This record gives sequence, C-alpha cells and structure tokens, in this order.
Amino acid sequence: MSLLSRALPALRLYGTGLAVSLHQLLRRLRPGGAPAPVFPTQNGNVAIVTGGTKGIGYQTVKHLARLGMHVIIAGNDENEGREAARKIKEETVNEKVLTPWITIYQADICKVESTHPSSFTGTVEFLHCDLASMKSIRQFVQQFKARNCPLHVLVNNAGVMLVPERKTEDGFEEHFGLNYLGHFLLTNLLLETLKQSGTHSHNARVITVSSATHYVGRLHLNDLQSRCSYSPHGAYAQSKLALVLFTYRLQHLLTADGSHVTANVVDPGVVNTELYRNVCWATKVVKWMTAWLFFKTPEEGASTSIYAAVSPELEGVGGIYLYNEQRTKSTDASYDEELQRRLWTESCKMTRISDIGSRSP
Ligand SMILES: NC(=O)c1ccc[n+]([C@@H]2O[C@H](COP(=O)([O-])OP(=O)(O)OC[C@H]3O[C@@H](n4cnc5c(N)ncnc54)[C@H](OP(=O)(O)O)[C@@H]3O)[C@@H](O)[C@H]2O)c1
Repeated sequence: MSLLSRALPALRLYGTGLAVSLHQLLRRLRPGGAPAPVFPTQNGNVAIVTGGTKGIGYQTVKHLARLGMHVIIAGNDENEGREAARKIKEETVNEKVLTPWITIYQADICKVESTHPSSFTGTVEFLHCDLASMKSIRQFVQQFKARNCPLHVLVNNAGVMLVPERKTEDGFEEHFGLNYLGHFLLTNLLLETLKQSGTHSHNARVITVSSATHYVGRLHLNDLQSRCSYSPHGAYAQSKLALVLFTYRLQHLLTADGSHVTANVVDPGVVNTELYRNVCWATKVVKWMTAWLFFKTPEEGASTSIYAAVSPELEGVGGIYLYNEQRTKSTDASYDEELQRRLWTESCKMTRISDIGSRSP
C-alpha cells in the first residue's frame, strides 16, 4: 500500500476533526446560547444504550435514567458495566429534578424485579453484549427478549476508532464489524420488539451515533473489509458512513411497513473521551493541551443523542441526520438509495439474517 493511500484518509480525517473543533470553539465563544432543553419524563419506558459504560454513552444512560427510563447498558466488560451502573446511582440518587416535567428520580441499580414495565422506572442495569461477536449479540437479544419487556429507545452508540488492523470474532475488519455490522445485526434482531413497543402517538426510536468523519468516508462495496488497502482512518470513516446509509434505509423500510418506529442518526461533535486512545502520541499531546478549549465534554457530546431519543419535537420524525440538536445535511453519497439498498443486502448476507427489504424498492 502506497504512502499516499495511507496518508490521504488520515489527512481527511484530521482535517474534518480540526474543522469541527474550530466550529465548536466559535459556537462556545458566541454570547448567550440556548438554554438546555427540558424533556418530558419517560417513566415506564425502556432503553438500550450500547457502550454505555463510558464517554458519550455513559452520559446518555445517565440522562435517560434521570428522566425515569429503565436503561440497559449493553457492553463488553462486566466489571466496567456494573461499575458504571453503580456510579450513576451514586451521582443521581439524591437528585430531585426541579422542572415541572420531571418527577423525583431515584436510580435503583442492577435490580430488575419483574418484567412489568412499571417496575423498570429510573433504573440502570448492565447486560453483556460484545458487538464484535455475532454470537454475543444474539445471546444478548435472547436474554433481553426472555424478559418480555418493551423497548422504546435503542441507542447504537458503542464504537472504536483507529484500531490497528485486526478482525472481530467473525472475521470482519474491526471498524466495519463492530461499529457498523454489530449494530446492524442488533437493530434487526430487536426490530420486532421495537415495532410492538411503538404506538401512533409515541413511536419507538432507533438512534445511531455516527460522526462528521462520515463526510470523508468512502464506501467500498467490493472491499468492505478493507482487504485491498487498510487504513485505520479510512476504515473508521467508512464504518461511520455505513451507519448513515443504514439509518436512511432502515427508515425507508419502517415507513413502507407502516411501523411506529423512527430511525435517526446523530453526530456528537468532537468530544473529549477515550475514543482517542489509539491516536499517535503527538496527537495525544495536542489533545491533552487543547481539549478543554476545542473539545466538547462527554455530557455535551451526549446532548444530541438524548435529544433524538426523547425530544417531543422529533415525534414521528425519522431518516434525519442531527448535529447540535439540529437537522443537518449528511454527505451526498449517503442519500444514494441504490447504495443504501446494496449495503443493506450485503449486510444481511454477512450477518446471515433474512432481508426485510428484499421486497421493497
Ligand atoms: N469522541 C468523539 O469525538 C466522537 C466523535 C464522533 C463520533 N463519536 C462516536 O461516539 C460513540 C461513543 O464514543 P465515545 O467518544 O464515547 O468513546 P468511548 O469513551 O471510547 O466509548 C466507547 C464505548 O463503546 C464500547 N465498546 C467498544 N467496543 C465494544 C464492544 N466490542 N462491544 C460493546 N461495546 C464496546 C466501549 O466499551 P469498552 O471501552 O469497555 O470496550 C465504550 O463504552 C462512538 O460510536 C464514536 O464513534 C465520538
């Protein structure tokens, strides 16, 4: 692989990161700013958040639980998951939220007493789900379905970035296999439950976390595993573009089906989290010195996911890309319906599930 074909995706990715960071700084410097939105309580509703043990996912779980949801953290590390649930309890246990929308919330962690939805109010628990393993995803869904509880919100949040060339348990390139295919399979396996849980006035919601790097992503349908030329930057950007294409196709199929489920994709911005653990040391130093100025905090980074999950403004609205809680245009290629359809079909083959879109144009 030539130096240029490795360097180009990296330059594109860092260029995008820089542009977003500068935009964030300018936004922060702007006087005033909108007050934090207040959302209705979600008592009795159930959410799954993948990768909710840290970073953006952790803050998403915390906020949804604060609103009264029962939140299941789907993660690959049992100890971290239980610790995250314990911490959320600690951080929220004495909170009495003072808005007319929100009643008193008390997290009651790692405890699910019955399968009746009302007993789920404001709790957080951990269930093992390794998104780099199709077997683990299937086991997770089986465990979840065995409870016979509804599912109102699925947040496809987990992700890795710039990992060295390696494969998931099923032999897929890790960015593509974990960030994209893992969530593709998880969503498809949970789709029936989501459809049963959504109603005309209260749609169930699928929120998928992509990234501004999707703008510089290239989808290589003939080489989704980046076998011909591996660049960690290119592979990450491709996985994030695939998530946008997936969301639009999913919404198309849900609409055709008349389901009360919506699917949207969010871009959290550039956020100070452990996602950057694989960047080179020089970038780590720059990040360490400038993150306070240019990066969003994980809490700020979670705001668009939370908005997409519970905002009444988005009731019944699907198939959109959200950035800073605003509808935003994604890259032109993401609106290519033929590309969306082909990626979906290929993903069904890779995950060995039946294609719900096979009869849909
Ligand atoms: N931070 C940013 O600037 C930024 C920008 C744009 C988009 N995003 C996206 O935002 C999402 C959250 O990232 P973050 O910034 O919050 O990063 P993070 O702090 O590293 O969190 C990532 C989460 O994903 C989990 N995860 C990783 N591999 C997993 C697996 N095999 N199975 C299940 N869970 C797994 C991690 O758990 P473990 O660590 O225990 O494995 C962790 O909980 C990602 O999709 C990322 O691409 C982030």
